[in-house]
Amino acid sequence: MGSEPRLLVVDDDALIRDELEGLFASQPYQVNCAESVNEALDHLSEHEFALALVDVRIGGKDGIELTQRIRDRWPEVDVIMITGHGSIENAVEAMKRGAVDYITKPFQSEEILIATQKALDRRRMQEEIEYLRQQLQDRYSFANMVSRNAEMLEVFSTLEMLARNDVTVLITGESGTGKELASRAIHFQGKRKSGRFVAINCAALPENLLESELFGYERGAFTGAVTDRVGKIEHADGGTLFLDEVETISAPMQAKLLRVLEERAIERLGGNQKIDVDMRVVAATNENLEKLVEEGRMREDFYYRINVVPVHLPPLRERVEDIPLLVSEFLRNNPLAREKALNRLSEKAVNQLTAYEWPGNIRELSNVMERAILRAKGDTIREVDVPTGKMAERNAGPKLSYDLPLREYLKGAERDYLSRLLTKHQGGIAPCAKQASVDQATLHRKIKAHGLKANDYRQNGKGGEGR
Ligand SMILES: Nc1ncnc2c1ncn2[C@@H]1O[C@H](COP(=O)(O)OP(=O)(O)OP(=O)(O)O)[C@@H](O)[C@H]1O
Ligand SMILES: [Mg+2]
Repeated sequence: MGSEPRLLVVDDDALIRDELEGLFASQPYQVNCAESVNEALDHLSEHEFALALVDVRIGGKDGIELTQRIRDRWPEVDVIMITGHGSIENAVEAMKRGAVDYITKPFQSEEILIATQKALDRRRMQEEIEYLRQQLQDRYSFANMVSRNAEMLEVFSTLEMLARNDVTVLITGESGTGKELASRAIHFQGKRKSGRFVAINCAALPENLLESELFGYERGAFTGAVTDRVGKIEHADGGTLFLDEVETISAPMQAKLLRVLEERAIERLGGNQKIDVDMRVVAATNENLEKLVEEGRMREDFYYRINVVPVHLPPLRERVEDIPLLVSEFLRNNPLAREKALNRLSEKAVNQLTAYEWPGNIRELSNVMERAILRAKGDTIREVDVPTGKMAERNAGPKLSYDLPLREYLKGAERDYLSRLLTKHQGGIAPCAKQASVDQATLHRKIKAHGLKANDYRQNGKGGEGR
């Protein structure tokens, strides 16, 4: 659209057309006139209009019907209806069919100009809202990931930066935190997106199969190798190789992969020819690899080769502010939810979702929402089905009520705070004390006073004192 909004006047009365044309031409508007429905449609196909002023009767034809057609085919064009002789029924009908306003004949120039300005202002405001909504979307999302958590927003900008180069990336995070999604984002937002994204789950295959899967083989390399076969690494040439659950790779395989990463070339099993591969490598793990190196379960040289740039995805319980955002994303993208026009959650459902710890993170939230969508009646999700295990119980606690004396209230809040802190640091006293800015002895005393036990928050011996 040009800088001046374009208006369309549709009326079979030449006097009115001329009057309006003259009026609008004296203003910062462009204007076209039509004396019939067909002429109006021609104009509409040819130019981008901001607004149409349509007479209720056009050469025996129904202007209201034209209004409806305009709203259907050119929803961005607003319509003001011009109705004759104070016919209020026509005006009401026109508004029902999507006109934004109506003017009754005979009219004053001033009246027309005000109505036109009002309609254009409203439009501009709507465009502005749409623009802001878009911006918000852009700000809180990257590729298919959404988040409004500060740490995650930093992850997004890191991923965006990584997409632009070829450096090897190690993505860490608990199960279901979005590691695969993040690695896809790196690939599909980057210059290698026209190459393949080759994902290999290292845990899914026994060592010998993993090797032939990765490296491919030549005919006769082993019994059963009746044809040549291109491996995943070669497939990733020009693209990205995603090594999922990289911690499960055996030491001998680590050595072989290390050589590939260093030389950027492979030999197929049973082959003796070097084949160059130009690929970006992204590895993912939900283990602490540094610890595995310390324990001698991962080669140090391999670790350093894959851990060039680490990206950590925080668990969902550390970004509860993302739960509403994710839930609305799931509702928006779920066909059944759209069909059912599900767009609300009861307070109970919201409380359930935010009190739970989400050990399975976003994948678990997605599954819980899917079940809730299936069961929901009406436009509201009334409750969700989350496990009430040990984790959930100890955090739910009694609801703090304002009816309590202040001292009781504060006591409850302190217990709640400590419990969440212990959960976050998996019972580690040192990091809890640090975050709470108290010394460890004080923290110990408070935990004891509330009848909590740091040990209850430790998982299989992990998260001990020293963490
Ligand atoms: N930030 C996010 N926004 C929207 N959806 C997300 C986000 N993060 C993860 N998901 C969704 O959650 C699910 C799990 O993500 P993904 O498979 O990437 O996790 P993962 O860390 O690889 O899990 P695992 O360790 O179990 O393999 C997917 O359905 C994914 O689309
Ligand atoms: Mg995964």
